[in-house]
Amino acid sequence: MNPAFPPGFLWGCATSAHQIEGSPLADGAGPSIWQRFARTPGRIAGGDSGDVACDHYRRMHDDVALMKDLGLTAYRFSINWGRVLPEGRGPVNAAGLGFYERLVDALLAAGITPLATLYHWDLPQALDDRGGWLNPDIAHWFADYAAVMYRALDDRVPLWATINEPWVVADGGYMHGVLAPGHRCAHEAAVAAHRQLQAHAAAVRAYRAMGRHQIGLVVNIEPKHLAPGATGADRHAAALADAYMNRQYLDPTLLGRYPDELREVFGASWPDWPDAEVEALKTPVDWLGLNYYTRAVVQADPAGWPVKAVPVRQPGAIYTETGWELHPQSLADTLLWMHQRYGGLPLYVTENGAAFYDPPHTIEGRIDDPLRVHYLRTHLAAVQSAIAQGADVRGYCAWSLLDNLEWAHGFAKRFGLVHVDFQTLQRTPKASARWYAQLIARHGADLAEVAPPA
Ligand code: BGC
Repeated sequence: MNPAFPPGFLWGCATSAHQIEGSPLADGAGPSIWQRFARTPGRIAGGDSGDVACDHYRRMHDDVALMKDLGLTAYRFSINWGRVLPEGRGPVNAAGLGFYERLVDALLAAGITPLATLYHWDLPQALDDRGGWLNPDIAHWFADYAAVMYRALDDRVPLWATINEPWVVADGGYMHGVLAPGHRCAHEAAVAAHRQLQAHAAAVRAYRAMGRHQIGLVVNIEPKHLAPGATGADRHAAALADAYMNRQYLDPTLLGRYPDELREVFGASWPDWPDAEVEALKTPVDWLGLNYYTRAVVQADPAGWPVKAVPVRQPGAIYTETGWELHPQSLADTLLWMHQRYGGLPLYVTENGAAFYDPPHTIEGRIDDPLRVHYLRTHLAAVQSAIAQGADVRGYCAWSLLDNLEWAHGFAKRFGLVHVDFQTLQRTPKASARWYAQLIARHGADLAEVAPPA
């Protein structure tokens, strides 16, 4: 047995509220920006929406039982702000809050550690109507909402995350308009980034005043690599892309400064934030969450926006259904980079997984997904290697527990370890779920030898 994963290492799966819950307006919940977005033609592939999704809101107890069967020791979920505060601020909706209290209680009863994310992209519509992530007041709105959740659940939730992937919120929601609220404006993207960092800082400060456990930030990092024969222009473009995607959030939060390259990335759209305001973004956290899916090999190209760089496909590489290259080595490298650059903080892999083509229905009761097993195995080996080299990695959450609403892709891209039939809503663990369950039972020992079940 190779004990390469430390004692207490958490073995989890991750989901997010809007992607699985369904029943978005049940029990007094207020709508989120995804309600309106989904009802705008052309925004979500196939006209899909989160109205039913995986129906987790009504099947929560069955889903927790499924997690227990798989032997998960952790579950990362997100809270839909508008269930708890239908207007985004003001009176608490006890019924909405009650759902998350029951979820946490069910997890604890099943021996599963809850890891709660406060914001995974479903902003209350009422707040978007007031400018959403562009309004300077959002830091207070978010901290007040966070305080409601700490008060209700901090006695039972040991790990909190403020915001999931602020880069995606700003880039998808305000720069390119492919995610809600669907704006397309570089200046707004820079403002939305800054307001999220202020909101994160305010929520962490609120936690310091009342919380007893640990709070962190979850970012997605995608290393920018160069192809052989890269020019100086390619190198420069890759550095800008890295600053924009990988350092725009962590540098201000942990080092108190924005990367210099952002002035060039945003050009005339860059807001000149006062120094004191940027320094105030620096707020110590207890841990960092890494969502890792892929790397990008980039080259300079004037067609890129806002960074004049585009990804280039690698001959011979495996690509997922979302067009992402399978590159586990970059997960190890990223964990070590975070460890070194940001002061050796405890790290969790809060998301890692792949959409591959899965059969749309079970065949003889089974769904075989050998590429996903390969993806998980090679990425967990990368985590193991980062730990062996000194990174303080304390847990791993596969994305995702269930096939779910993959945002603007609708239900077409399946990331689940558990298959969901979206007609019947029946859940069927895929071969990858059964493989992961075996690995968890051995606490990750002998990773290479755990064969996918026949
Ligand atoms: C997000 C998830 C999403 C996944 C796959 C991450 O960026 O946090 O919500 O489903 O990637 O695209």
